[in-house]
Amino acid sequence: MVCLGRICPDMLINGPIDANPYSIRLNSDGRTGAVAAISAQPPESFSASLLRSLLLLLLLLQSDTFDESCESGGMENENETNTEPVEAEVNPWEVSGKIDYDKLIDKFGCQRLDQSLIDRVHRLTSRPPHVFLRRGVFFAHRDLNEILDAYERGDKFYLYTGRGPSSEALHLGHLVPFMFTKYLQDAFKVPLVIQLTDDEKCMWKNLSVEESQRLARENAKDIIACGFDITRTFIFSDFDYVGGAFYKNMVKVSKCVTYNKVVGIFGFTGEDHIGKVSFPPVQAVPSFPSSFPHLFSGKENLRCLIPCAIDQDPYFRMTRDVAPRIGYHKPALIESSFFPALQGDTGKMSASDPNSAIYVTDTPKEIKDKINKYAFTGGQDTKEKQRLYGANLEVDIPVKYLSFFLDDDDELEYIKQEYGSGRMLTFDVKKRLIDLLTELVERHKRARATVTEEMVDAFMAARPLPSMFS
Ligand code: TRP
Repeated sequence: MVCLGRICPDMLINGPIDANPYSIRLNSDGRTGAVAAISAQPPESFSASLLRSLLLLLLLLQSDTFDESCESGGMENENETNTEPVEAEVNPWEVSGKIDYDKLIDKFGCQRLDQSLIDRVHRLTSRPPHVFLRRGVFFAHRDLNEILDAYERGDKFYLYTGRGPSSEALHLGHLVPFMFTKYLQDAFKVPLVIQLTDDEKCMWKNLSVEESQRLARENAKDIIACGFDITRTFIFSDFDYVGGAFYKNMVKVSKCVTYNKVVGIFGFTGEDHIGKVSFPPVQAVPSFPSSFPHLFSGKENLRCLIPCAIDQDPYFRMTRDVAPRIGYHKPALIESSFFPALQGDTGKMSASDPNSAIYVTDTPKEIKDKINKYAFTGGQDTKEKQRLYGANLEVDIPVKYLSFFLDDDDELEYIKQEYGSGRMLTFDVKKRLIDLLTELVERHKRARATVTEEMVDAFMAARPLPSMFS
């Protein structure tokens, strides 16, 4: 995807035309520019054709270079013109193929989350880093150092994450960012805003407004069940909350993003409806404290840290590009890889295939059957061969799942050793995983069962949070 910036390819074909509700320019013969341009192209003079060639050259050059400045249509660190064959697709609407996360860091222009940063988090919070940090599930960031610098100086920040409510039940992959955000909230003792983009899913998934709103509320219950602290957490649905200061920020952002730019970042085409084109500012502005006057009035300088999966990066590249132009801090990001499908490590789990994922509503029997039947393993076909050659841990889903959710580093290391060398069989590794996930899912179900409608209302009330920093 290429951000074409100021030069629109149409201009090269039709010449600059101007026909819109705001200014319809008439040609001398009284026809509108558009019609005239199509139907009456004069023969091209030498200088015109030279100009055209020069423009084309400029266009090509522009599409190949990366330009930091927003005004010129480039996006922050956007470098998506890599001509190597692309095997994987990662954007907010599609995650597929075998993802090379190192390449993704280069392509998106974010930074790798290295051990020194993890150590720093450890030191600043005086608690062991979350398993998702230790195991590299959250592997990339933007400006995390700056947030930690500020925190060290005594400046707090707030957290922002979200969910597009596209399905009734969440799967384990959906829980990953929320489990991690809960840890960050507890470790840093900071406020958190959670955006439910019911509007986004209404537009992308062709759900009715009412159905999207219903799903948002159902999903809010699962999110609350992750254990967020009500004295520091505000959950909001776009349909309910957008307006006022939030909307003013949306308009400020919208004015800084050209159509060409949004096409360059998100790949919209002329067939996409304008709801999609105009959505990105909705996801952008929770990054700015002034969007939440009931929380951050008088604290407009507060910094924002966004934990999310890396497919959301395009939204925040756009946000970071615009922020300084409207007088705000760029939000910082901490970004995760995807929880793999049971069938293998080729992207994120698919909501349309219930057998590709473990859902938080699955029964113990369903969990057991799914893992036994569908989990792709790197173990050998027969016991004898397994004893002889051991398992290929690189592709083994049970080991991958264990490395997300088995907190005990020693036990995980032991399993990898034994299984990789053939002393342990696939059956035993699966058994350990089944026990672990059954326990996790049952715990989640119990927590969700205690979430009442009143609690959802309380989390979603636009209210001050007086002790959010203490
Ligand atoms: N677009 C996200 C999704 O489809 C939802 C979302 C909104 C989000 N704001 C966010 C995710 C901030 C992470 C961080 O799930």
